[in-house]
Amino acid sequence: MWTLVIVLPAVLATGWAQSATYRFPDGFFLGASTSAYQVEGAWNEDGKGESIQDNFFHNHPEYTSGDTGDVACDSYHKYKEDVQMLKDINADVYRFSISWPRILPTGDLDVINQAGIDYYNNLINELLANGIQPLVTIYHWDMPQSLQYLGGWPNELIVDYFVEHARILFENFGDRVKWWTTFNEPAVFLRGYASANIAPGQNASGIGDYLATHAMLKAHARLWHLYDEQYRATQNGSVGITFSFGLEPLTNSTEDAEAAERARQFDMGIYAHPIYSAEGDYPTVVRERVDANSAAEGRPRSRLPSFTQEEVQYIRGSADFIGVNHYQTDYVTSGVTGISPSKTRDSGVITSVSRIDSSGFRRSLNWIANEYPGYPIIITENGLKDLGGRNDVTRINYFADFLGALLEAVNLDGVPVIGYTLWSLMDVLEWDSGFTAKFGVYEVDFSSPNRTRTPKDSAAFIAEVYGSRQLPEQYRL
Ligand code: NOJ
Repeated sequence: MWTLVIVLPAVLATGWAQSATYRFPDGFFLGASTSAYQVEGAWNEDGKGESIQDNFFHNHPEYTSGDTGDVACDSYHKYKEDVQMLKDINADVYRFSISWPRILPTGDLDVINQAGIDYYNNLINELLANGIQPLVTIYHWDMPQSLQYLGGWPNELIVDYFVEHARILFENFGDRVKWWTTFNEPAVFLRGYASANIAPGQNASGIGDYLATHAMLKAHARLWHLYDEQYRATQNGSVGITFSFGLEPLTNSTEDAEAAERARQFDMGIYAHPIYSAEGDYPTVVRERVDANSAAEGRPRSRLPSFTQEEVQYIRGSADFIGVNHYQTDYVTSGVTGISPSKTRDSGVITSVSRIDSSGFRRSLNWIANEYPGYPIIITENGLKDLGGRNDVTRINYFADFLGALLEAVNLDGVPVIGYTLWSLMDVLEWDSGFTAKFGVYEVDFSSPNRTRTPKDSAAFIAEVYGSRQLPEQYRL
């Protein structure tokens, strides 16, 4: 009898603490993510202009596997099905992107494509009618090709065109869209100015990517200030930016710890430090290393441009939240690799191994929260690719593992994550591997003209997690 009286409360208390850890806090939003080029199709319908992705996929099958986004999941015509799928997994939020040339086919204000505005209005209205909030990515890598002909992101004058585009979005959709991210994964798309194999394929390594970085940061800050000054009071939303992140030292040596810190500053800090740090501007380690290498190469100026003090102040603090995409952790060590010049070589870091490792995810979240305190974090992407199949138990285990780590970061470590949108709602066109790499919780039959969607086992798992707002007991650590 005594045993019962003493032990039972302890068991209950442990169980209670456990279930509190693995429950999403009130107000935490859960959803799924896609991007325009990867799902919409209708690449030249209803007045849409050509994007750098259309151009690249049509002309470079050697880098894109030969598949294209011409039809993709046909979401331009099937968006109502997409919304139903979101509803079926109990999503609160849908993160999608707006195709810039669907709104501005020439990139300029000479043509504003009403059919494009109508499409996104319909999608947004359908979401809201089903109780799902839109979270809009403004740039998920599809600049109008006409602006690329003018140089693309390395040309700072493009920033004005981007601001004009964003103004159209805030004007037309801001009454209903309360969450905006300006750019998706700068570390990835800016490689399109450093190598031939990512759109727009401008092979100017260590130069074009830094010029584009500089303009991208100015563009981001302009959008945030535009929203803050002209739309926030009436629309009351939030504007952030999304980074890819997951870097840890290979061993616990001091050298590897320093290499990991350098890697984080070159991979995320170069974009995030100017916006989220107390002092602003590029991280010192990035500034010093690129300047030193540029001088050693005999250049009259650094390959990484400098901000004026006024620009540093303008960019500093220009965000309401931090968006984070995480798939895996790269474990790094010190060493010089990569062509000269290149961002990789400037960093002095070698990625030794990449691991799917939820403890790396938790540590990465803690690093972000410590590095940029005071900003809420949204996990804008997280997911696993496979080769297909509806019995995707590996994906279920992945989500269980990573959602567990996320909840531990939130409820045990105090990391201020406020939302999570998995990648991806459905199988989509993957940038380097076409339709063969599957990330969806819904399968899409790309050989059928209907692009038939079918739930995988992971869709049922996610529906349970999102519906109950906790991780089912059997998946807890
Ligand atoms: C991140 C990108 O934002 C997304 O477009 C891509 O499909 C996923 N990673 C998977 O590679």
